[in-house]
Amino acid sequence: MISSGRDARIRQLSEQLSEIEQRLIPTGLHVFGRASELKEKADLLRMVASFDRPEHGSRALSRLVAEGLRITGYEQLVQEAGTSETKELIDAIVTESVNRFCKAGCEAAVAYLIAKANVDREEVVSTFRLLANVSEQLESNHEMESLRRSLRGEYIQPGPGADVIQNPSVLPTGRNTHAVNPYSVPSRTAFTRAQQTTEALLRRHVDEHGRYPRAMALVLWGLDNIKTQGEGVAQALWLLGVRPVRDALNRATEIEVIPLAELNRPRMDVVMTVSGIFRDLFAPTMALLDKAVRRVAELDEPLEMNYVRRNVLERTNASAGSFDEAITRVFSNAPGNYGTNVNFMVMQSEWQDPASLGDLFVTRKSFAYTRDSRGRVIEGREAPELMNDALSRVEATYQNIDSFEVGITDVDHYFEYLGGISKAVEVRTQARPAIYLSDSLSPQTRIRSLEETVRLETRTKTLNPRWYEGMLKHGFRGVAEIENHVANTFGWSATADAVDPWIYTEISNTFLLDTVMLERLAELNPHSVESLARRLLEAHDRGYWNPDEHVLEKLREVIIRLEERLTRARVAEGKTIS
Ligand code: BEZ
Ligand code: MG
Repeated sequence: MISSGRDARIRQLSEQLSEIEQRLIPTGLHVFGRASELKEKADLLRMVASFDRPEHGSRALSRLVAEGLRITGYEQLVQEAGTSETKELIDAIVTESVNRFCKAGCEAAVAYLIAKANVDREEVVSTFRLLANVSEQLESNHEMESLRRSLRGEYIQPGPGADVIQNPSVLPTGRNTHAVNPYSVPSRTAFTRAQQTTEALLRRHVDEHGRYPRAMALVLWGLDNIKTQGEGVAQALWLLGVRPVRDALNRATEIEVIPLAELNRPRMDVVMTVSGIFRDLFAPTMALLDKAVRRVAELDEPLEMNYVRRNVLERTNASAGSFDEAITRVFSNAPGNYGTNVNFMVMQSEWQDPASLGDLFVTRKSFAYTRDSRGRVIEGREAPELMNDALSRVEATYQNIDSFEVGITDVDHYFEYLGGISKAVEVRTQARPAIYLSDSLSPQTRIRSLEETVRLETRTKTLNPRWYEGMLKHGFRGVAEIENHVANTFGWSATADAVDPWIYTEISNTFLLDTVMLERLAELNPHSVESLARRLLEAHDRGYWNPDEHVLEKLREVIIRLEERLTRARVAEGKTIS
């Protein structure tokens, strides 16, 4: 018994290590006009080559290697958590081939793969042709020239906006990014991927809570749905148990109900909070989502298999408003308005009661986008009571992440949205919801709890010497980035209580209690270091972390020393008011 428990723990640890190892870690900021370096390029190319890309006539290198080695069950292998000998063998061969490609070119890489894994020559040549194209474009950077052209008011070539790994056609950079045709969302690929993700999401909830959530709240962003061609939208549709139908002009404007026998689970009730950018870009998609909820609510199905209908009837049977009101599920800001402001409130340390953060979220985001019973469009009608009602049944909140470079501690927007809505739910239901994230970053489908995601981000970025040394190469700005990460981590404590105390301890040890590191940081950017120290003290004051008194003393001392240093610097520059 003891040994099987120990084996399971070791297996879990090994899975976590391989997850951290495989994560693509940004090793510095992009410098405008400068091409990426060789090491970064090899990592990036390996990721580009990890997807099948029928639109470029290329297939995943790992798939080609598996086929060459006659390894069966490739799909299952990709989805498996952790590592295995087979996976390691394939990864090692793929990595070596990409390294050879970077050093010696296409022919060397192809020859290696044929000798090592008996791959089909024509197929790998197609994949390396794509990599050669990406590699060449990474080196030829037009950003500076385009900036000059734009300042002269000249024409800039357009190009799609996305993540390089999601869509290599974004290269070369320095073009005028255009977005997406909203009627094309969700793409077929996005809809296929979303099925795996939503099933994994629901499976995880059932594993942890013994049943499906009574209702869920989703955050949908504009840029993410551009980059993923609507994976977030597709996830919402799958949760409801419907698929998009294209009209004669190939526009996704209609809905088809997936029969329960095929869905094999209840339809979920989903409250969708969309960003202001999403609202501006995806009006037809919002109409599609609204239509999907209405259609599902009207289905004559057993209530235990249709949570939308169950929740809607619960409200209308209690004579609490009309059917049209009860099916309102798509919310955003007031027209012309953006953001939740929860991030500003957290960053300024101005809240007393954490409930205010959830209330602020609802104040900003409770504008309904729907239709009335006569089919008239309602675009942003203030409806806090409808949003409060919809949130009062939510037991799980969720957001899909779209990009390698921008994760949940890189910017304050993730905690203002996912943290903000989770706090709003907690206040309205008197219970913290289960909070999940997934990412569209790799061929695997991974659902993580918020706590797991914060740990992963902390280990791969904030506390990872590869990441922070990369940042420190950028001097003043790099220290500000480290401080930003700490502040955004703090945002997850404030909104969702999702940060383990050890994270604050290690941040403090790494950046402030190590005297050599402290001096390096203070030399580059004393302002950010002072903010970082103040943030850690605030984390203690608000009860997120309880270090020994001598650590707190040390942090206070750091602040005093930095203030003295800043005063001295101002005096030396003659900037004091006498
Ligand atoms: C969006 O793409 O919708 C978005 C971008 C940044 C912050 C919040 C939302
Ligand atoms: Mg993003």
